[in-house]
Amino acid sequence: MCGIVGYIGKRQAQPILLNSLARLEYRGYDSCGIALASSGVAVYKDAVRVAELAKSLPHLEGTVGIGHTRWATHGAPCQKNAHPHTDCTGKIAVVHNGVITNYQQLTNQLTKEGHKFLSETDTEVIAHLVEKYYSGNLVDAVENAIRDIEGSYAVIVLAEDKPGIVVARKDSPLVLGIGDRENFIASDVPAILDYTNRVMYLEDGDVGVVTPDSVSIRRDGKEVVRETQKILWSSEEAKKGGYEHFMLKEIHEQPRVIRDTISEYVLATEPVLAVPDGRLDSVLLLACGTSYHAALVGKYVFEELLGIPVRAELASEFNYFRNCLTTPLSIAITQSGETADTLKAMKRLKEAGSRVAAITNVVGSTASRIAHQTIYTRAGPEMSVAATKSFIAQLVALYWLALSFSRLDARTALELKMKLRQLPEKVIEVLDNESRIAEHAEFLAKYEDAFYIGRGINYAIAMEGALKLKEIAYIHSEAYAAGELKHGPFALLSKDTPVIAIVADDSTREAVLTNIKEIKARGSPVLAVAAEGDEAITELADFTISVPDTDPVLSPIVNTVVMQLLAYYAARKRKCPVDFPRNLAKCVTVE
Ligand code: AGP
Repeated sequence: MCGIVGYIGKRQAQPILLNSLARLEYRGYDSCGIALASSGVAVYKDAVRVAELAKSLPHLEGTVGIGHTRWATHGAPCQKNAHPHTDCTGKIAVVHNGVITNYQQLTNQLTKEGHKFLSETDTEVIAHLVEKYYSGNLVDAVENAIRDIEGSYAVIVLAEDKPGIVVARKDSPLVLGIGDRENFIASDVPAILDYTNRVMYLEDGDVGVVTPDSVSIRRDGKEVVRETQKILWSSEEAKKGGYEHFMLKEIHEQPRVIRDTISEYVLATEPVLAVPDGRLDSVLLLACGTSYHAALVGKYVFEELLGIPVRAELASEFNYFRNCLTTPLSIAITQSGETADTLKAMKRLKEAGSRVAAITNVVGSTASRIAHQTIYTRAGPEMSVAATKSFIAQLVALYWLALSFSRLDARTALELKMKLRQLPEKVIEVLDNESRIAEHAEFLAKYEDAFYIGRGINYAIAMEGALKLKEIAYIHSEAYAAGELKHGPFALLSKDTPVIAIVADDSTREAVLTNIKEIKARGSPVLAVAAEGDEAITELADFTISVPDTDPVLSPIVNTVVMQLLAYYAARKRKCPVDFPRNLAKCVTVE
């Protein structure tokens, strides 16, 4: 999705803006641009990568500027649609994330009033509205402009004759970075980590003026104070650290992530989650994409360990259920904390009276501010579009939550906790097998279609494996509960449709073995992912990847790492842009 940055201070703005934009590339974008104010407003933008834009730029003097990476929604990716957008005078420049839903109506009105539009974007209307209302006071003009706007926005406005930058937000994240006689603005934290770790999150309805020495924020015309928070992530964590891709680095960070996420909660003497009336009778889990697969694992774990009914719903679907059938406790799972569908579902649940908790990786994210309580995962910044370590951290947080309420006898619970704490070592064992997994992935890379199967808790991991493969290797892949293939998908089985079968050492094992035999009889090559020492699988499947033995409930962790490596090496073999898959964005802030 789009990224925005701004700088005002004592240094030259151009290199800071370009560096911050480069740090936002992980979000996915198709064009970029910057605007600097010194004598006039200079705008440079195009449908190119940030590095290419940087090369094409002259040296621009100025200590105040804004920048943008665009992920096209209204109008094709091209120079005229790239941000920043300006008003008719060229003295006001705007960058914007979000969607203005009534832009067509406003554009028609402003055109009648004599404004000339140069792009097909919804954003340009903001620049013209600010121009319309501007009579020397930029913040008043922005406040008036956003009164006319419907939709979502994080917006930064620059005017040539003003000493401050104006910012505003509604339903789109915006963070201010506080420096020493300089301040930074960004859509998300990694953009500014090279300069500061002191941040202030704007809330919906906030309008602020940022100068080199001050930040003043108002809401409904009244001054408000937003707390300054310290971000624990380092700028190094948001870099590749010698790996070819962020995704591979993030896969390798998982043993550390498991340890850190466990230690976050291990000392808790009380359940880490507050539940209504102190009773946990049912839970509703909500999420999108990979986080939804974590919700499916969570459903299984909560049902297994707590014996309570759990629903796992896609937030994007839940928002359209006619009846908001809720439970006293809901848990939204979102690594970014900014996924529009998940946020909408959280608000809907709150209105319906549910206590809403969030599991998220980003301190201060919108989800954490909507939720009654936030459980933070300790994955560190995740830069690759494909979620890996954040997913593993979500699973660990869910295991810990379930264990903290479990009705297991003390000894069984203790054993499970010990096995949970052994997981970093198990993941290291999987990573030690990386080169063999890479060989299997190269075999997989030859195909255009694949099936993933699993049963029980590992059906969710089959879904995650299939999502990863299509997302980054562009191979069409479908996940099925192993018993479901014969109810239709069998028609597609042939030597050209490999099947990746997750065979957990649990009550589902025999049934999956039977399913593999059925598949083999139809000629599809089978790659099994099975527990070490499972001779029967090795004999039956065409290829086998062994994973270390662990408790069946915890097996999703080791199996997931195999799924991630298979997708990663298949994508590399197919020369796909692993970290920035086409058409995708890290943070999906539109519904
Ligand atoms: C995962 O690899 C995807 N990039 C995507 O499915 C992602 O998990 C989804 O958009 C939800 O994001 P969230 O966890 O930030 O809410």
